[in-house]
Amino acid sequence: MTAEQALKEQWGININTISDFWVDPEKLSVIQDLMFSGINVMLTGDPGTGKTELTKRLAQAHKLPFHRVNVGAIRTPRDWFGHWEFIGGQTVFVQSEFVNAIQRPGMIALDEFNRVTPDIHNSIYTILDHNREVYIEETKQFITVHPQCIFVATENRGRSHTGTFMEDTAVEDRFETIKLELPPVEIMAQLLERVYRASEEQALLLARITHKLNSLYHEESLSRPTGFRPAIAATALIKRGQPLNTALKYTFVNRFSPEGGVDSEQTTVLQVIQAYLK
Ligand SMILES: Nc1ncnc2c1ncn2[C@@H]1O[C@H](COP(=O)(O)OP(=O)(O)OP(=O)(O)O)[C@@H](O)[C@H]1O
Ligand SMILES: [Mg+2]
Repeated sequence: MTAEQALKEQWGININTISDFWVDPEKLSVIQDLMFSGINVMLTGDPGTGKTELTKRLAQAHKLPFHRVNVGAIRTPRDWFGHWEFIGGQTVFVQSEFVNAIQRPGMIALDEFNRVTPDIHNSIYTILDHNREVYIEETKQFITVHPQCIFVATENRGRSHTGTFMEDTAVEDRFETIKLELPPVEIMAQLLERVYRASEEQALLLARITHKLNSLYHEESLSRPTGFRPAIAATALIKRGQPLNTALKYTFVNRFSPEGGVDSEQTTVLQVIQAYLK
């Protein structure tokens, strides 16, 4: 069977779980139903809740050709479509991989979509709405988006996000938004054990600390969220032989400001850690 035939046979059949990755089952099914209905999906949520990873996992699970655009790296509205190059004495327009990818079945991940100003979004509006086509001025060609080309974007929302821009309603209107969350404590602990080889006891400790610190962010007692990443880094340090306290210091604690002495964010984090270490 060719890759194309395999894709055709499996097209649109939802999966219920993703191995070694957790998503709320209802959200997982809604995301896929939207994807396979030709509706663009926007994944939001705190940093380290698996937004970028989920796009890749969904493409893999459905055997969809995958193309990721690091939207933050797009500097001018025309960068989406290609760039001019000086070749053999003349300037030629080199069409982007994005333009190639939208004309084929597959998934396009528009990663960190709100890291650019809205004028960067403008030039792909017609790709993302019911028109699903765009006129490329440089090559004087109309490009039509393939009916089985799926768009999944990710973005960070929240008060700790400097360097991101508020969405304009035109963009919001072109996506259905699903917010990802950290896995529940027990599931996060199981993942740390199974995927990252933490011990049972340490996995549970790291999952508890992560959840507590992230809830303190949402209660506005800490200035930044805590996602999956510090726990992964702490596990790696412990496995390399670092003492638990050192591992926690360089992953969870040092991310926060020491300013303010006993009232500092670091003090708050240390108190949380002490409470769980008992
Ligand atoms: N729900 C989850 N299940 C399993 N692993 C997860 C989950 N969420 C995050 N991870 C792991 O945490 C790491 C960070 O995930 P990822 O880069 O996808 O986060 P993100 O939400 O895109 O963050 P950012 O907003 O900073 O871009 C990855 O190694 C990923 O595998
Ligand atoms: Mg990401």
